Amino acid sequence: MKTDSFVFLKQPIQSFHTKWEAPSNIALVKYWGKYGAQLPKNPSISFTLSNCKTTTEVIFSPSDNKVNPTFEFYFNKKERPDFHAKINQFFEHILPYLPGLKNYHLKISSYNSFPHSSGIASSASAMAALALCVVDFEKQFHEELTEKDFFKKASFLARMGSGSAARSIKGPLQIWGKSPAFHDSSDLYAISFDSSLHPVFKKYCDTVLIVDRGKKKVSSSIGHTLMNRHPFAEKRFDQAHHNCKLLKSVLKNGDIQKFFEITESEALTLHAMMITSNPSYILMQPQTLNIINNIREYRAQTKIPISFTLDAGANVHLLYPQSERGKVISFIKSDLLDFCQSGQFIEDQVGQGAKKI
Ligand code: PMV
Repeated sequence: MKTDSFVFLKQPIQSFHTKWEAPSNIALVKYWGKYGAQLPKNPSISFTLSNCKTTTEVIFSPSDNKVNPTFEFYFNKKERPDFHAKINQFFEHILPYLPGLKNYHLKISSYNSFPHSSGIASSASAMAALALCVVDFEKQFHEELTEKDFFKKASFLARMGSGSAARSIKGPLQIWGKSPAFHDSSDLYAISFDSSLHPVFKKYCDTVLIVDRGKKKVSSSIGHTLMNRHPFAEKRFDQAHHNCKLLKSVLKNGDIQKFFEITESEALTLHAMMITSNPSYILMQPQTLNIINNIREYRAQTKIPISFTLDAGANVHLLYPQSERGKVISFIKSDLLDFCQSGQFIEDQVGQGAKKI
């Protein structure tokens, strides 16, 4: 028997203050469909981003409540009770793994580096930053928590706030969901791509073309649920498994052509799942298709290696090696800006993961 099981929580600390920034991520193989406590129906692989990030500061103070953690939440310095339901749900899910939290009141202050109404989902970076603050608090009770376990637990908890948040803790490439292609992979938390990554992918760019700045009409959580009775679900899950295996080789050998095939097919399949759901819905807009057609034409004509991927929304993520940045930005300015809302785009690139501030 391990004697550790007899170690009880140390004397509660009086108050604790921490601040973390966590990046957004863009999936190359998409997670779409979930079961149980926000566990994925298929494995996914993502690039961790760098510029699009959430910074969250939490002050933990002892509270008299003792049943649930209490909190106040500020976004861009304004109190935002409209976020309470989502945060409450997150605390409910994580409390069994962090019972000490119920004795505290949390003052949570967050801000995003990217414009609030840019149509870029912030739940991954927001939940990752909050999870890191909470695990940092737990570390005050458990000094023995190793660095590896610290980040694993942060990914495990972040997942309960938003599935894709599991992949926003570390960089540059994350795998979430059990895949035979990655022997340490798990549905519970994300792992890093530990095989040697081809140099071309170490400095990859993601420029987000903002087609629609508004809130999406159908949330990802409804989209995931619609996969439960989806006629193509099983085929889709098999395809994602297969694509994870293929992408693993591509990420090692730098076969850019294959990279385009896999990632563009993943993006379009994600939207095909939405279009063929019951009820059906469409998040792409005419400008999304115009941009995709232009990218493919430009690539065919110039042989410049750019491709696209999509999130669950109308915006287009343009992916390309950093060495092509100058040409791609000129192409965006000359050919794609007309399709972007207010001519807006956001430049980002592969990053190394979250940081304590
Ligand atoms: O993390 P959620 O529940 O918002 O779902 C994210 C789903 C996609 O962004 C469409 C795909 C992915 O793997 O990130």
